Amino acid sequence: MLILVTGGTGYIGSHTCVELLNNNHDVIIVDNLVNSQAGVVERIATITGKKPLFYQADATDDSVMDLIFSTHKPDGVIHFAGLKAVGESVEIPLMYYRNNLLSTMVLLDNCLKHGVSHFVFSSSATVYGDNQVPFLETMELRPRTNPYGETKAMCERILTDVAQVNPELSVTLLRYFNPVGAHKSGLIGEAPQGIPNNLMPYITQVAKGSLQELKVFGNDYPTPDGTGVRDYIHVVDLAEGHVAAVEQAAPGVHVYNLGTGKGTSVLELITAFEEANNLKIPYRITERRAGDIAECYADVSKAREELGWTAKRGVFEMCRDAWRFEQIYAAEV
Ligand code: NAD
Ligand code: WQD
Repeated sequence: MLILVTGGTGYIGSHTCVELLNNNHDVIIVDNLVNSQAGVVERIATITGKKPLFYQADATDDSVMDLIFSTHKPDGVIHFAGLKAVGESVEIPLMYYRNNLLSTMVLLDNCLKHGVSHFVFSSSATVYGDNQVPFLETMELRPRTNPYGETKAMCERILTDVAQVNPELSVTLLRYFNPVGAHKSGLIGEAPQGIPNNLMPYITQVAKGSLQELKVFGNDYPTPDGTGVRDYIHVVDLAEGHVAAVEQAAPGVHVYNLGTGKGTSVLELITAFEEANNLKIPYRITERRAGDIAECYADVSKAREELGWTAKRGVFEMCRDAWRFEQIYAAEV
């Protein structure tokens, strides 16, 4: 299949391009580089031996997207492009609503116009809010904690409504849990700008010595060691989940959790990182971070049963690969 991958030079998108190419699909990347670099295209080519087509373009630009669709006639779209910083979405909500909703609507419109029937959307476990764990696809959504989460729930709604009146359309909503790690080559991975918001990239910055210590946001949650529990998933497993989703797409709306089904606490992740990489991560317990929930992990049975996909890589591998990427990437930039 020929897959149009928006956000394909970003963290999850780049790993998915690698897995698509490794599985003999062709790839066209559209990315405006607001949070990634064009050099990633070359790195994807180094890993796979195949260079994807790349357009530096904005997915909210209808005329450019129209041109790309009519030129290449893709079989499907995987829509990763989006803004994702939760805190920033509270500060500048309009930018988040505009970018994340408009890009989805423009792409969907072009799918209908050009007869593209497969649409895979990057959703997030954040849509479950404070439901009871493990999160199940059938649960009522409660994304009300921040505008970022709202954009994901709204896009899911838009895609679902449009699919209902276009029965030939296949919409797959993939709810990612906490993607971490990197490709084993160390050539692609997560490289956030500035001080990282998320735990794993913060840990790698502390390991590198760029940040002095990790602040552990609260140890008084109702969890086994009091720190927050999350379902960390290796980004390559996540990428493989996308290949399974694209290959099995059928008309209608399909929702899948992509996680491991296992919860890991902040302290457990620190220990795993230290053991996997044989180094020490200085940390200090601080106040809880506003908006955090105690526990977030997936029920993964639906993806296993319907897509035949399960995550294979464990926390040790996630920590090892995240650190390898940091060392290789940091040596080059
Ligand atoms: P990322 O920032 O690394 O990648 C997103 C890419 O989209 C970037 O390369 C950016 O330049 C591009 N982009 C943004 N707006 C665009 C636009 N209008 N037109 C073209 N390109 C645009 O983020 P990621 O971690 O790879 O996340 C990919 C998707 O998965 C996002 O939609 C995100 O919300 C979602 N998601 C991410 C996580 C996570 O923890 N990383 C969890 C759940 C869901
Ligand atoms: C993980 C755990 C923190 C940083 C976010 C988004 C979510 C999704 C994935 C996009 C929590 C603790 C963190 C630190 C810490 N993204 N922590 N010190 O918040 O689960 O999810 O990324 O869809 O929408 O909200 O991930 O990595 O920020 O936090 O103690 O410096 O680590 O409190 O328990 P989160 P995270």
